[in-house]
Amino acid sequence: MLWTKHHFDALDSTQDEARAYPPYSVVVAERQTRGRGRMGRTWESPAGNLYLTAVVPDFGDRTPQLAFVAAVALAEALADFPVRLKWPNDVLLDGRKIAGILLERAEGKVLVGVGVNVVSAPDLAIYATGHLQGRIFCDILLDRFLKELREAMGAFQEKGFEPIRRKWLAGAFHLGQDIIVKMPQGTAAGVFAGIDADGALMLKQADTIKRITVGDVALMKDMK
Ligand code: BTN
Repeated sequence: MLWTKHHFDALDSTQDEARAYPPYSVVVAERQTRGRGRMGRTWESPAGNLYLTAVVPDFGDRTPQLAFVAAVALAEALADFPVRLKWPNDVLLDGRKIAGILLERAEGKVLVGVGVNVVSAPDLAIYATGHLQGRIFCDILLDRFLKELREAMGAFQEKGFEPIRRKWLAGAFHLGQDIIVKMPQGTAAGVFAGIDADGALMLKQADTIKRITVGDVALMKDMK
């Protein structure tokens, strides 16, 4: 196994603890008291779900694409369930979020934070969907994810982003649909036309394509 695991009962956030560890370390907590999500949000972290941070090397200007590498790996790890991917790096089950990924940089390394709602969640937990049926639990899911992450990172290193981009698109939710993207600087509407070679969202508006790097996606029909 490539990874060295460090387990804790409770941490403020696995992201903060992971700063002290070298690449290929994994910090796992049973629960977090200050779990955080993207865009400054709180990540509810009661016991029973999976909370981990995998420390990986910095990939320079390709580092943001690691979020898609991790999302593809997480979808593979959850392949027993009919999961889909939501831009930029959420995992959905039955159209609702069951897992999120947070990428942070720390002195020459990258902290890939993953939270999976196995038994409880503000939105949806795998357990609540009836898909769980005792087939999967946190330790198995952790090992599956680490194996898939290692493979996806190997493909990314050898072949670049394109194979990851294709896999991500194959599992993408919202593709070809009317969406609204809430960005820090405002809202944009259009058709979700895919992701580009950097992982940016491509939003088709009339005959132009708008490129979006930060934001939250919602289906237009759900906004009405
Ligand atoms: C998101 O969808 O907003 C990303 C959520 C990431 C949550 C995980 S849980 C493990 C790691 N530690 C944290 O504090 N956050 C990430």
